[in-house]
Amino acid sequence: MSMIKKWGVLAVLVAGMAGVTVRANADTLLSPPSGYFNKPAVIAGAKLFAKHCSTCHAVSSLRYERLASDLGMSKASIEKDVMLPNGANYRMGMEPAMTQAEAKKWFGLPPPDLSHMVRALGVRFIYSYLQSFYWDPNRPSGWNNHLFPKVAMPNVLQPWSGIVAKNGQVMQPGRVTPAVFHQRVADIVAFLRYASDPSVFIRHKLGPYVLGLLVAFSLIAYWLKKEYWKDVHDNPSKRKK
Ligand code: HEC
Repeated sequence: MSMIKKWGVLAVLVAGMAGVTVRANADTLLSPPSGYFNKPAVIAGAKLFAKHCSTCHAVSSLRYERLASDLGMSKASIEKDVMLPNGANYRMGMEPAMTQAEAKKWFGLPPPDLSHMVRALGVRFIYSYLQSFYWDPNRPSGWNNHLFPKVAMPNVLQPWSGIVAKNGQVMQPGRVTPAVFHQRVADIVAFLRYASDPSVFIRHKLGPYVLGLLVAFSLIAYWLKKEYWKDVHDNPSKRKK
């Protein structure tokens, strides 16, 4: 290992121990770790979303019961971990705990429905946005965001992210390590990605069968074509003049 590599590895280790959270600024978008999108992550994300986001945000296009058929969650777990205790209906879409009128009163505008937000903004934007809040005493909520200046949403993930100033200085560390913080945000983003395309897992499961059928039919078609042309090839006299 070269000297430079050694120092590089050491720097990363020290940074990890000191609890440095990698933060986006307006020029860079962070990417969730590769392989972050799978069923266990989406299930973890659904539970985190229910706890930390669905006070304000709806995901109205996603019915609770789909979490059972798409992700294999049990009805009991959905009722306990994902449905809000405000009379939510298992067969209906995910509605926020807060009414639109209340939200408008507190934030000046209703928090958007996040059903299709990943399609609109992209995975990388939302992953970065949730990690780009900084402390700004001039804002009514006390929070601002590098990627969404003057955002009306407060940093609801503060217990995990801690409080960070605009220049990246950590004013109060989060209660979890930066690695855990990033992981949880990636899980929430995985859930939102699934919510904007709920048939994704069924599609991935059916895909190989559909391709297999296409290959099988191609073989049959080829064999049929050979069979039809066999006579012509074998008997040149049968060819049309
Ligand atoms: C206390 C209420 C509240 C909670 C809780 C909340 N949000 Fe928001 N969120 C808002 C409001 C209000 C806006 C609209 C911001 C604006 O337009 O200035 C918003 C906007 C957004 C946007 C759109 C940003 C854009 O660029 O248009 C995303 C994505 C989002 N929230 C994700 C989340 C996620 C994920 C969580 C849970 C970790 C969450 N929010 C929790 C109030 C909330």
